Amino acid sequence: MHVINVRPEVTEDVRAIDVVHISAFGGEAEAQLVSSLRESTTYNRELSLVAELGGRIVGHALMTRVPMRKDGTEKNVLALGPMSVVPSQSHRGIGSELINACVNLAKEKGYGTIVVMGHPEYYKRFGFVPAKGLQVSCNLPAPEDALTVRELVDGSLAGGGHVEYPEAFIKLY
Ligand SMILES: CC(C)(COP(=O)(O)OP(=O)(O)OC[C@H]1O[C@@H](n2cnc3c(N)ncnc32)[C@H](O)[C@@H]1OP(=O)(O)O)[C@@H](O)C(=O)NCCC(=O)NCCS
Repeated sequence: MHVINVRPEVTEDVRAIDVVHISAFGGEAEAQLVSSLRESTTYNRELSLVAELGGRIVGHALMTRVPMRKDGTEKNVLALGPMSVVPSQSHRGIGSELINACVNLAKEKGYGTIVVMGHPEYYKRFGFVPAKGLQVSCNLPAPEDALTVRELVDGSLAGGGHVEYPEAFIKLY
């Protein structure tokens, strides 16, 4: 049995990452989002994790540093996404490994909060809770119930705030 290996992205992974997102999402939008973020100053390859199984890339999770604003103050949080696993390898815990690795990496880098847009039922099992309940909103034109957050450092979400995703994410909707 192969072991899942999660590691940061390297240059050679670019095409394989595209293939993961195109097959998992059934379209090119998320792969294009990753490509446009990669060309922006926002992109930090250390926050882009791939999951390998038997030496093949089968999953990818990207985190992007985004501002969260409240009453004239601003702090940086990490936005998780896109994240996906190739359909042929789903239900094997690869998505879970990627999310847990993202949480550990975010803690290691000293971030207080991770936000994620999408499938609240899935992210709940990793300690993500509805953003609305913590007065956290964002600029994506998506249902507010789909935004969840995980506080990594106690108090980092005190008072909530408005998360501003870069333009490339807004185009996805
Ligand atoms: C969602 C996704 C990342 C899960 O990856 P995975 O490797 O299969 O995840 P895991 O094996 O760790 O966990 C699987 C469990 O997640 C749950 N799950 C999967 N998708 C879910 C969803 N949309 N909502 C709620 N739970 C979900 C299932 O209950 C599954 O449990 P099971 O294996 O007992 O049936 C993968 O299915 C995927 O890439 N989907 C398409 C892209 C996508 O939706 N990405 C997330 C965007 S927010």
